[in-house]
Amino acid sequence: MFVNPKNPHAELWDGPRTGTEGVKEMFGADEAYDNSRFKSFLHEALTAKHLFVDKPNGFPSLLSNEYGKELITTGLKMKTIKPLSTLIQQLRLIKSDYEIELMKESGKISSKAFVESMRWTQPGYSEAQLWAKLEYECRMRGSSMLAYVPVVASGPNALSMHYVRNDMRMEDGQLVLVDAGGEYNGYASDITRTWPVNGTFTEPQRELYQVVLNVNKACIKLCTEASNLSLNDVHHESVKYMKQELQNIGFGTNTWELERTLYPHHVGHYLGLDVHDVYDMTRAKKLRKNMVVTIEPGLYVPFDDRFPKHYQGIGIRIEDNVVIGASEPYVLTANAPKEIIDIEHLCTDK
Ligand code: GLY
Ligand code: MN
Ligand code: MN
Repeated sequence: MFVNPKNPHAELWDGPRTGTEGVKEMFGADEAYDNSRFKSFLHEALTAKHLFVDKPNGFPSLLSNEYGKELITTGLKMKTIKPLSTLIQQLRLIKSDYEIELMKESGKISSKAFVESMRWTQPGYSEAQLWAKLEYECRMRGSSMLAYVPVVASGPNALSMHYVRNDMRMEDGQLVLVDAGGEYNGYASDITRTWPVNGTFTEPQRELYQVVLNVNKACIKLCTEASNLSLNDVHHESVKYMKQELQNIGFGTNTWELERTLYPHHVGHYLGLDVHDVYDMTRAKKLRKNMVVTIEPGLYVPFDDRFPKHYQGIGIRIEDNVVIGASEPYVLTANAPKEIIDIEHLCTDK
C-alpha cells in the first residue's frame, strides 16, 4: 500500500494519519510505502508478467496522467493487463458470514429508524423534517450517515422516482413514500416504506398498497439458491405478479403499459458496501447463497385518464433487503413494518 507518511505538522491541522507502519498493522498490508516512492515502484512493477489495473474511467484517462505516460514509455505493450475491478466485484458479490452480521445490524438500525419516523409523522409536518427525523434516528443508533440522499415524497411527488427536493408540506389524506437507509461500518441499507400521513389508508390507497405488498412478498420468496433464478428472472416474475394482482382489483393493464409507465424500474439490485453494489455486475447471474439483494416493486399512477381516476396521483414502493439463503430467504429489514394493519396501528399510536 502506498500512503501519506506520518507528518506532525500536517497532522496538527488535519488530524492523525495512519502512516506506513499503521497500514500494515491495521489493514494487513504486506508491504507499505510512502506515496512519493510510487513512481520508482512502477518501474519495478513493470518487470512483472501481469499487471492488474483498476480503470474506473477507462484507459485513456489512466494513460493521460504522469504515471500513464511512464507506463507507455517503459513498454507497457509487452505486458498482459487485467482489470482489477472485475476480481474485486466478484469478491463483493458473495458476502462472508461476518459481512452478513454487519448487514443485519445495518438493517436493524434503519428499520427501527423507520418505525420511529412512521410513528412521528403527521399532517402539517414537512418532508424536510421527516428526512431529519429519519437521519437522526439512524445516527442515534450507530449509523455513520445515510447511505444516499433519501427520497421523502408526499402525495404525487412519489410519481417522480428520483424526487430528492424533500421540501414540501405533508398533507392530510396523502401517502408519503420514503426511500432511505443508514450506513453501518460501511454497509448500506436501502429501505422504502409508504405510509399514510394521517395514519389511515384511504380505500384506493389501501387497494394499491396491498397489490404492491403481495408482489413484494411473492418476490422475496424467490430469493433462494433453490429457485435457480437471477435478479432479472425475479423481475420478470414481479411483472407477471403485478399484472395479476392489478387484475384482481379490477385494474386491467397490459405488460407494455405496466413496464413503461406504472412500474418502470427493475425489481432490485445487489446491495453491500454501495447501495447499487458491484455496479457493472450483470443481474443475469443466478442467485447464490450469501448474495444480498433489494426487492422493491412499485406502482406509480400518473394523472392520465387512461388509468382509473381514484388511483391517479398515488405512488407506492415497498423495498426490503434480502440475504439469499440455500432454501429460505433472510429479510434484513423485517423490523420495518409493511403490513397495513401494523402500519395503521403504529401511525395512530402517538
Ligand atoms: N435507493 C435507491 C434504490 O432503491 O435503488
Ligand atoms: Mn431505495
Ligand atoms: Mn434499492
